[in-house]
Amino acid sequence: MLRRQPQRPRYGAAVDGYGSSTYGEAFADVYDEWYAEISDVDTTVADLLDLAEGGPVLELGVGTGRLAVPLAEAGRVGGVRVVGVDTSPLMLQRLAGRDTAHLVRALEADMVTGLPAGPFGLAFVAYNTLFNLTDEGAHEACFSAVAGCLRPGGRFVVEAFVPDDPPRSGDDVSVRTLTADRVVLSVTRHEPDRQSVAGQFVELTESGGVRLRPWSIRYATPEQLDRLAEAAGFTLEHRWAGFGRTPFETDSPRHVSVYQLPGAAAVTPDGRVT
Ligand SMILES: C[S@@+](CC[C@H](N)C(=O)[O-])C[C@H]1O[C@@H](n2cnc3c(N)ncnc32)[C@H](O)[C@@H]1O
Repeated sequence: MLRRQPQRPRYGAAVDGYGSSTYGEAFADVYDEWYAEISDVDTTVADLLDLAEGGPVLELGVGTGRLAVPLAEAGRVGGVRVVGVDTSPLMLQRLAGRDTAHLVRALEADMVTGLPAGPFGLAFVAYNTLFNLTDEGAHEACFSAVAGCLRPGGRFVVEAFVPDDPPRSGDDVSVRTLTADRVVLSVTRHEPDRQSVAGQFVELTESGGVRLRPWSIRYATPEQLDRLAEAAGFTLEHRWAGFGRTPFETDSPRHVSVYQLPGAAAVTPDGRVT
């Protein structure tokens, strides 16, 4: 794993004490167990490889390498290189443990301020990870930073949930896990006017331990993301309801949006620029 100068932007977080590495450091030990089934990895990898057109590929918020490692394994035949950035050293340690063949170049870096130069053929941010940036200015800066490290015609794929319309506001407590000697409660606070949700998984055990796992997101609608993408020079190439290219409908709960930069201008033999 390569180490970059650690950067810890705070992005005007909605939760006191919450920074860009808080989520990863709090969830690294349970991430692979809790989120093993969140999406179909094989289908995701197949779509990403297809969109990469030879790569190289950059993943923002690469985490434990749930996607990046199988993507690098699948892309090895075609020579597709995979780079991932993440602010959490503990997440990257997990990635290193999974990536026994050292196929992924993992950087401890921020997905706004620390992107490697590229140029990449494809960048992607999966499973709501863009929303880990907790204000709109950071979302905007992220689109712009990604545009700056893609080659002409390069693509940026965003996978995220579609916010409820109208939004459900307020506080909520639910049970995630309940056994004889352990309970994990999910506590959330939703502020629709800020488009923010903050939460804690609170783990209580018979032995007396309490473990807090905080998270905080600023969500955006697909239309808001389209505007940010357009401002950064992208056009929307595809919008699917998920990987596997299922059609996006007005009531789809999730979306996979594929944004593309303009291609390089080509000069024809008679001197015309196309
Ligand atoms: C929900 S996990 C997703 C991990 C992986 N992409 C996946 O799909 O399984 C979000 C990841 O983003 C990382 N992250 C959060 N904010 C970040 C930031 N500003 N820059 C880079 N990584 C960040 C977290 O440390 C965490 O590993």
